[in-house]
Amino acid sequence: MLFLFSSAASVTYADNSLYQAKCASCHSGDGTGNKKLGMLTGGDLSRLDLTKTDTSKKTDDELKNIVLNGKNKMPSFKGKLSEEEITRLVKFLRALQKK
Ligand code: HEC
Repeated sequence: MLFLFSSAASVTYADNSLYQAKCASCHSGDGTGNKKLGMLTGGDLSRLDLTKTDTSKKTDDELKNIVLNGKNKMPSFKGKLSEEEITRLVKFLRALQKK
């Protein structure tokens, strides 16, 4: 019970705002991907879905590296987000993946 409470509380309103401001345009508010942006992934919308098993199985470090360095049409956020912000975003993705 205490654990459940503390893991829910570890994602804050500020983390959500950061995600909505920087990531939701392509990945949608709930992380499942903006269905209008299939052209970014050659029509494969699942690659924009950050809640899929393939993404949830990746380690925190792997996800942080993708955000830092980009991947195909995923832009690099190097110099745009701090290390601390990227860590918070990965934590936020974990919360979306649990829904
Ligand atoms: C301009 C659109 C765009 C924005 C903005 C964007 N992404 Fe992405 N992202 C993509 C695309 C496209 C891919 C798929 C890359 C591929 O596999 O070809 C992707 C892939 C990813 C992946 C890799 C998923 C996997 O399993 O390989 C992660 C993690 C990710 N994005 C996180 C983020 C986060 C966090 C943000 C906000 C800081 C963000 N993205 C902002 C377009 C975007």
